[in-house]
Amino acid sequence: MKEETNMNIHELYKSKLLSCGELAAKVESGWAIIMDAAISEADGLTAALCARAAEGELQGVKVHTMLDVYPYPFYESNGLDGRINGVSWFSSGGARKAINAGYADFIPNYYRDIPGLIRANYRFDAFFASVAPMDENGKFSLSTVGSYSRAAMEKADRIFLEVNEEQPYVPGGIMIDIKDVDFVCENTHALPVLPPSKLDATSIKIGELIAERIPDGACIQLGIGAIPDAVGNALKVKRDLGIHTEMFTDSMVELINCGAVNNSKKQLHPGKTVTTFAYGSQRIYDLLNGNQDILIMDVDYVNDPNVICRNKNMVSINSCIEVDFWGQVCSESVGTRHMSGSGGQVDYVRGAIQSEGGMSFIAFESTAKGGTISKIKPCLAPGAVVTTSKNDVDCIVTEFGIAKLRGRSLAERTKALIAIAHPDFRDELSFEAKKRGIML
Ligand code: COA
Repeated sequence: MKEETNMNIHELYKSKLLSCGELAAKVESGWAIIMDAAISEADGLTAALCARAAEGELQGVKVHTMLDVYPYPFYESNGLDGRINGVSWFSSGGARKAINAGYADFIPNYYRDIPGLIRANYRFDAFFASVAPMDENGKFSLSTVGSYSRAAMEKADRIFLEVNEEQPYVPGGIMIDIKDVDFVCENTHALPVLPPSKLDATSIKIGELIAERIPDGACIQLGIGAIPDAVGNALKVKRDLGIHTEMFTDSMVELINCGAVNNSKKQLHPGKTVTTFAYGSQRIYDLLNGNQDILIMDVDYVNDPNVICRNKNMVSINSCIEVDFWGQVCSESVGTRHMSGSGGQVDYVRGAIQSEGGMSFIAFESTAKGGTISKIKPCLAPGAVVTTSKNDVDCIVTEFGIAKLRGRSLAERTKALIAIAHPDFRDELSFEAKKRGIML
């Protein structure tokens, strides 16, 4: 066989090309594997790995994931427990279920810290990723994801790539050189999409309340879900908005297409949309393909509050499970039941409040479970996880209004929160506040 150094990139590619099954056969018992968020997951390779484990060929493999978007057997049921277990750095559908059922593990973190945590604490046997086809320079675009991939590759002994021709080629994102890759497999299929969120009267109302506070020229971060999408919808009438966000979402495509976003007023990366990963509809993937105006960068840069705050009028909008009278925000659990990681919520709350003219909104429908539970509570449920602390929280929003908490006393916070709680719960909340001696 020709020496690697003498091969052209196409020969090199061919020399490293295996089927997904052949590549999965390289994995050994006891390996720790890491993938990054959403559609950068190497689903074909991972499916082949799970098939080997199901045959009893593997023991003690750990697969680290972030936002899992494929139905992996090791998250779907405990059938592979001990053979392959998932370890999630955030979690979503599959991982959420597995963590609560005791056959997957979870690593608490601020998203911005993951690259540093990996560099300081971890060594992986392999990094798996789905990428766009190799370009004429021998580079694979890591497509929709910056996130922690660079750190994961630095700390992985091997890089196994899965080429999917449907992956967008993102010139402003991470590129991986064929020389740095150990093996490649090919698996082309349509990319997974997030079902569009259903905007009901409540989310539309909340979206309008927040949009009223956002000036033209602001720089925005929107989280995942119906309420951030409703805010995006209500922002279509604005001008000169900028985007600096963790996740690039569908509503942002609409804001760019309708001209509300042009990034012209940004102090940092003017003219460019900045994100650390994108996930949503095919419209996102089409917009990203070949687009020089969207930068997909490492999360330790994008989500650093000291970077976020460099844009003036930075506005962040996220959601949560419940809030107590202090303004402590639980976004990760229902009592002890795990729902998700912190993601970038705190990164953006801090970045926005440090930005000149910046604001952070935690927005949610005032009740859960068909109106039977108030999401504003005297105390968080026992076992609930505090995501955003009372010292960081800024504005809380429900369909009944906006409570500004930052800089306010406990009594002022409690009053402001009761005023935006669902009317059915206000008397009970006032009673509880008085019982606790809060000066209403
Ligand atoms: N008490 C009891 N149950 C509650 C509740 C409350 N206060 N609030 C919500 N729930 C229940 C819902 O009824 C639902 O139950 P189900 O699974 O049985 O249907 C479940 O909890 C999930 O609620 P939902 O409103 O559908 O939340 P979600 O899945 O859309 O996720 C967060 C909401 C808060 C978990 C999500 O926004 C998140 O991940 N936040 C943290 C990270 C973050 O903010 N990232 C932003 C940067 S992208």
